[in-house]
Amino acid sequence: MKEPAAVIEYGVPIDPRIMIEPPDPATLELEPGHPGLGDAGYVRRRMELFMQCRRHRLENLGPPLIEYTSEENRIWREVSPKLDELHRQHACSIYLDAKDALGISATEIPQLRLLSDRLERETQMHLVPAEGPLAYRTFYSYIAKRGFPVTQFIRHGSHPEFTPEPDMIHDCLGHVPPLMNRDYAEVLTLIGKAAFTSPDPLQVLALKRFSWFSIEFGLIEEAGETKVFGAGILSSTGEIPFSLFSREVKRRPFVTDEVIETDYDPSRMQDQLFIIPSFVWLRREIEGLVRRMGIAV
Ligand SMILES: [Fe+2]
Repeated sequence: MKEPAAVIEYGVPIDPRIMIEPPDPATLELEPGHPGLGDAGYVRRRMELFMQCRRHRLENLGPPLIEYTSEENRIWREVSPKLDELHRQHACSIYLDAKDALGISATEIPQLRLLSDRLERETQMHLVPAEGPLAYRTFYSYIAKRGFPVTQFIRHGSHPEFTPEPDMIHDCLGHVPPLMNRDYAEVLTLIGKAAFTSPDPLQVLALKRFSWFSIEFGLIEEAGETKVFGAGILSSTGEIPFSLFSREVKRRPFVTDEVIETDYDPSRMQDQLFIIPSFVWLRREIEGLVRRMGIAV
């Protein structure tokens, strides 16, 4: 059997098998420096939601209905209007139209079960409860089947504007709204199918980078202006102005062959971004890339 090619991610070589069969954490892990670490009540709540969401995911039960605490709703209420103000000014139209159509409340944490039902009716996408970040290949195995994994916990209240891991604010205010758009749903599903089907770790890495610099951290050209497209930027009050205006950020035209060769560090503010000429163009690019890779989807 052919020796797998070397895979470099985040600047370090990784075992190529991790790309294809990554381990899924079975217990809650809060990384060192997580703002909730010293707070026993927060850790208990996270454990409870972890177990509940993991069970619902593994048993295909759909998102559980969660009774959110007043502290959790307070954090939502503090962050979502600030994000909304920034979205009105800087988000791309695909996102804004979808956000308005979905009507997520700024005062109460939405129930994923209800959002999922709505998406199912509009674009045949649905939401899958995720206990935390899932391994990349697991994540895309759901997307390939038109399911988007979303968390049901919220960040720690001591730093409402910061989360070291994707939480409900990132997922519901970044990823979920554009799932209402049919073209967006098709682009995402195609990336998912290709990444889940390919046996080649280097192809999986290339698709992961394509997704990172578009779905997560893409900027897009719209009527002569640069707008925010990626969920990672749209869900952060710091990242929106940083991505558009900081002199520390290198903004380059989105050239697929360059994007798939570009490494990134997910643990810091993104100082290298690509500007997508249009959404129609992005759809053609991913279709062309998957075809060139020879992946049968
Ligand atoms: Fe994300």
